[in-house]
Amino acid sequence: MRKSGFVFSLFVLISFVWSCKRETPDVRIIPEPAQMTIEPGMVSFPANMPIYTSSDDSLLLVAAGYLGGRVGIHGYKIGIPAAGHSIYLELVPPAAGKNPEGYTLVTGKTGIILQSTSARGVFYGIQTLLQLLPPEVYEEGGLKKQSGIRIPAVNIQDEPRYAWRGMHLDVGRHLFSVEFIKKYIDLLAMHKMNVFHWHLTEDQGWRIEIKKYPRLTEIGSMRKTADGGTYGGFYTQDQIREVVAYAASRFVDVMPEIEMPGHSVAALAAYPELSCTGGPFEVRTKWGVSDDVYCAGKERVFEFNQDVLSEVIGLFPFNYVHIGGDECPKVRWDKCPDCQKRMREEGLKDEMELQSYFIRRIEKFLETKDRRLVGWDEILEGGIAPAATVMSWRGVAGGIEAAKQGHDVIMSPTSHCYFDYYQGDPKFEPRAIGGYLTLEKVYSYEPTPEELTPEEAKHVMGAQANVWTEYIPDEKQVEYMALPRMSAMAEVVWTPKNLRDYEKFSHRMVRHYERLDQMKVNYRVPTPVTRAESFVFTDSLVISLHNSVLGAEILYSLDGSDPMTGGQVYTEPLVIRKSILIKAVTRMKSGHASVPVEIKTEMR
Ligand code: ACM
Ligand code: ZN
Repeated sequence: MRKSGFVFSLFVLISFVWSCKRETPDVRIIPEPAQMTIEPGMVSFPANMPIYTSSDDSLLLVAAGYLGGRVGIHGYKIGIPAAGHSIYLELVPPAAGKNPEGYTLVTGKTGIILQSTSARGVFYGIQTLLQLLPPEVYEEGGLKKQSGIRIPAVNIQDEPRYAWRGMHLDVGRHLFSVEFIKKYIDLLAMHKMNVFHWHLTEDQGWRIEIKKYPRLTEIGSMRKTADGGTYGGFYTQDQIREVVAYAASRFVDVMPEIEMPGHSVAALAAYPELSCTGGPFEVRTKWGVSDDVYCAGKERVFEFNQDVLSEVIGLFPFNYVHIGGDECPKVRWDKCPDCQKRMREEGLKDEMELQSYFIRRIEKFLETKDRRLVGWDEILEGGIAPAATVMSWRGVAGGIEAAKQGHDVIMSPTSHCYFDYYQGDPKFEPRAIGGYLTLEKVYSYEPTPEELTPEEAKHVMGAQANVWTEYIPDEKQVEYMALPRMSAMAEVVWTPKNLRDYEKFSHRMVRHYERLDQMKVNYRVPTPVTRAESFVFTDSLVISLHNSVLGAEILYSLDGSDPMTGGQVYTEPLVIRKSILIKAVTRMKSGHASVPVEIKTEMR
């Protein structure tokens, strides 16, 4: 009796120790919160836990509904929770110095309490809560198996470093479905990003229905393809409303971009009278920059753009409208009698000032509609419009200059923010536009330039990454280019600078990749080597492959075959004794794999 009692107690003790060991809180949140304390022990998250909201505030209820959908809890109650385990979403009164996007999240024995002064802040707290739960919470339709779930006990006080946390997507060069745009917005929301910059018009395609100018989409949305076919399409105004409403339910603002005066060949193909020469034009089939732009002399051009913007503003409630302004050659203006007349009449000394005149007029118009103008940094040339916000893309000089002039700026330099650039060795990667921007380099980005005084630095609203799609033909490839670099950018714009640490970020990413797997995102998997290399040797050679994702494995082949089908699992450095072609991939637990890399070895 005594003996078996002893054995039983020992068993209980061992299983207790074992379960404590198993349940060491493993918190991996991206973006890393500003302040977090992890308490020992775990908190149960029962299937039937009720959700309470502190009021019937409509946005708070949107957040509550979203949470319920993710965690498989149906419905919510309005009021203070009764005793017992519950989730309480509480709007608290605004306080001076409190960031309205911030939140407090406490998970403990008595339940989960999430507080913010805004529904948006509550929503960000929900995103954090989701990342305390198993990755399956990101599965389509939300968490299904719920029994026995436990989450870490945490006390988190969090707020974003920057107010502007954006992601851009070019739908002009290639077009993506409404369903995909929603998925992209979900990815922003998951990363606590808040602006979706929708690049809707381009030389190669006009993508937004404008009722007053039907030819914009009838003609301007279709371009010829090399094989004699056509490529194109557009979003109807109903679809735009659907996307904007969806984004609002994810607390993401949608900023439309309607390009002018350059990058407008698709519009000119539809309405050639808006050009200097009168055309005719075809929707552009090549990438790059066109000399044909809107005429800055003809009144008709301003009427047209104001009509277009009026419809656009009716669809997009966000305070900011992007009007492009980049890459506008002046060769047509230089020869155009209307443009030259305008310059004489307005006392403009050169075509730069004519561009400035164009943008200022549009800004004045936007002001009458209670909207603020955003433009690429070329809008500084010839004098910036009085209240314009600058998006600095040709490096950071434009952003610095604008901030010094007292303008708000959004940093988006090609060096760290252009997600159309290669993220690995071009020898292995799918074709991209060029450049080289690794995950680590994105992560290292510091949006506030050192050149600014603290007062000037207040004008840096934040940063965003841009996904230009000349070489991104489909949705899978958008995902590949955007992720995981979006995760790195999310920490750049959210997490306090002193907490940014690439090693720790990489550790957090291991869990984050599992979340992306649940969302069926075609993210880029790190490759077993970062550069294409070939080795010449005489006797033998040792080749090491590098696995940077715990739980993933490397598969390799030595006979040139596809490592995903016949490959062996890499366990130790390979000793090579002949000329050989090694192929290798990193394969995640989900089966999602990296592009194959190749290593050539040559024995002499
Ligand atoms: C740009 O990349 N042309 C803004
Ligand atoms: Zn002209």
